[in-house]
Amino acid sequence: MSVEICEVPKSRKIDEIEKWFSEIYNKRPEFYIRVPGRVNLIGEHIDYCGYGVCPMAIEQDIFLAVSPENSQKKLFLHNLDPKFESYHCPLINDVQIELSGTAPKWYQYFLCGVKGILETLSDKEKDKIRGLEVIVSGTIPQGAGLSSSSALVSAAALATAHALKIKLTKEELANICAASERYIGTQGGGMDQAIAFLAQEGCAKLIEFEPLRSTEVRLPGGAVFVIAHSLSSLNKAATGDFNCRVVECRLATQIIAHRKGLDWRTIRRFGELQKALGITLDELTALTKEILHEEAYSKEEVIKELNTTSTELDEVSLTPNTQHLQSFKLYQRALHVLNEARRVEKFHKACKTSAGGEDSLVTLGNLMSQSHQSLKDLYECSHPQLDRIVELARGVTLGTRLTGAGWGGCTVSLVPPENVDKFVDLLIEEFYKPLGIKEGFQSLVFPTTPMEGARIYTPKN
Ligand code: GLA
Repeated sequence: MSVEICEVPKSRKIDEIEKWFSEIYNKRPEFYIRVPGRVNLIGEHIDYCGYGVCPMAIEQDIFLAVSPENSQKKLFLHNLDPKFESYHCPLINDVQIELSGTAPKWYQYFLCGVKGILETLSDKEKDKIRGLEVIVSGTIPQGAGLSSSSALVSAAALATAHALKIKLTKEELANICAASERYIGTQGGGMDQAIAFLAQEGCAKLIEFEPLRSTEVRLPGGAVFVIAHSLSSLNKAATGDFNCRVVECRLATQIIAHRKGLDWRTIRRFGELQKALGITLDELTALTKEILHEEAYSKEEVIKELNTTSTELDEVSLTPNTQHLQSFKLYQRALHVLNEARRVEKFHKACKTSAGGEDSLVTLGNLMSQSHQSLKDLYECSHPQLDRIVELARGVTLGTRLTGAGWGGCTVSLVPPENVDKFVDLLIEEFYKPLGIKEGFQSLVFPTTPMEGARIYTPKN
């Protein structure tokens, strides 16, 4: 199925964007693109290991106004947030994304999406390429674990595909965006781009990979999800932390594969390993405990285990920003991944079998709490400020966990409806005010419901 095209809804946002568009480009936009952010309910840091995750789209989004441009064949980007500089570049068949040592520039995420689509063109089709004039506006907080970067990459890809009249299904777009976002240097797993395109209003989604597919997850009645910003944030492309975890999982997989007589060079994810061995998740967990040891592995030990060289390990398993690492916690990361994959299965089952009963809500909340504990202790990707929210939430919510990549960002809590106000007030008084925040609480802690995925809008006449 391709992305739905609808008439743009009337809102103040559209009027303002149109006004800016005609001021900057001296014409009206030809179409609009909306791509939502997401909150992941459970299944953290396991998509890149090949396991299913359970996110839903949120109201906050990236919104583009676009007009194709034929005279100069250039990409023009103007962001309504004044802290982001305007940008333009020629739009030819190869888009370059040159990363320096620091955090990527905002427009480089856009370029990832454009590049992903241009790469689908055959040489013959390259003369299809047109320029684009774009206004970008967004309401997803950055570095908050709500997928602001993937929404931008996905919006850019959808705008490019629509302008060039390239027909792609939602799944194809999601796969292209997941791959092209890696040009920014992080090895994400594809959850964010998948939910950006496949989200459905009113339900969360179980997203599974290889092949990419999604199943509706109807949340039991009485489940209110509340997002809270921990006011600590991470740009996952600016530090090596995210890729370090990806690589630790890969090395754990490869060591077990090698010990079981498989070719470690061709197996990169736990999901693939499980399939190759033909065993259950529980059996793989037992095997992992048997083969891996709790002490951190030195790079030398990994090399010895795999009977390889440092050069080959760098090439096959590590990323440019993890090649310098000398120590890897394989046992802990692996256990998190395998247990979290089980929790996703249990979460899905509890949603399927629930008749809206309190029991299933308690089960979902407990699974979320266990997930956080594991992310904090085994995966070490939480943040003291985030843990503080989790502490405060105890007793008022049914379960609270970090959502997204972590190392800061947001928490998501499952809250009984009668406790929502109490929980919000508690965080305002005990968390935000002590940090010196005096206003704007609605954008820091808020209930959320599942929203629809990406849309293309045509202007109203
Ligand atoms: C980021 C990545 C996703 C996923 C999450 C952690 O958002 O882009 O692919 O790995 O972190 O669950």
